[in-house]
Amino acid sequence: MRDLFRLDDRVAVVTGALGLLGPVWAEGLLAAGAAVVGIDRPEAKMTDRFRRLLDRYGEKRLGLVRADVCDRRALVRAREFCISEFGTPAILVNNAGIDQPPGKLKKSYRMEDVPVEISRAIFEVNVLGLFQSAQVFGAAMLKAKRGSIINIGSLYASVSPDLRFYDHIPVDPPFLKPPAYGASKAAVVNLTRYLATAWAPRNVRVNALSPGGVKGGQDEKFIRKFSSRVPLGRMAADRDLIGPLLFLASDASSYVTGANLKVDGGYTVW
Ligand SMILES: NC(=O)c1ccc[n+]([C@@H]2O[C@H](COP(=O)([O-])OP(=O)(O)OC[C@H]3O[C@@H](n4cnc5c(N)ncnc54)[C@H](O)[C@@H]3O)[C@@H](O)[C@H]2O)c1
Repeated sequence: MRDLFRLDDRVAVVTGALGLLGPVWAEGLLAAGAAVVGIDRPEAKMTDRFRRLLDRYGEKRLGLVRADVCDRRALVRAREFCISEFGTPAILVNNAGIDQPPGKLKKSYRMEDVPVEISRAIFEVNVLGLFQSAQVFGAAMLKAKRGSIINIGSLYASVSPDLRFYDHIPVDPPFLKPPAYGASKAAVVNLTRYLATAWAPRNVRVNALSPGGVKGGQDEKFIRKFSSRVPLGRMAADRDLIGPLLFLASDASSYVTGANLKVDGGYTVW
């Protein structure tokens, strides 16, 4: 039965590979036997976590391509690199995403004043970039008649942020999670359904994986408030995410498409 989750001889692509969760997905896929091609923006810094994976698995199992998911030509070049150096992609983890556009954190806004540019930048990456990368890598999967695409959603695809988690942050106006973030993730979940139905006849499955809040450098007050709101009583740890990803990536989920797998400790159930 364990073989159901194995990914030997499969090539996986992970976008946003240099962020917090990119290396978590990459590590899980590598451990299950896949070769992984990470993609990240040209200006994103190499991280210790990704470098450790490179040291451990070597360049034959793990590659990194610089491409912005909003740049279709760069994505096509990344696909060509992936095919020539590793093989046809069988798995795509569409993970690149932004919450606050980089460099825009200096000022807080009231809901009624949020500049449209901030919302546009979030939709550009989280929805349109994700769609483009599904199109570019999905095209290779459709040709091969095999593939699993996992779009990373969020608990905020289903529920609104609870602003009380942030009310200890001393900014005026009070911190506001960008309204476009959850809206973009809701769009990801619905786009997942459409792609799933369109590509099911050609054996390409498309699912969403929606994590809850993942512990990673937040302040203690936030962690306490957030955790008390979660039925399982804590934020997600990296290891909580790997099993659900491998389920969706592998033949263990061969009859699952169009789903939104919520990995949020029950947050969205309450
Ligand atoms: N961390 C969490 O608690 C959490 C919870 C729910 C969902 N998510 C989702 O998981 C995904 C990863 O989150 P994270 O916490 O690792 O974020 P992160 O900011 O640490 O990493 C995101 C990565 O995506 C890259 N990226 C951003 N824009 C890009 C672009 N245009 N082209 C290519 N790469 C780009 C960044 O350079 C970065 O390396 C996101 O989609 C996020 O919305 C995260």
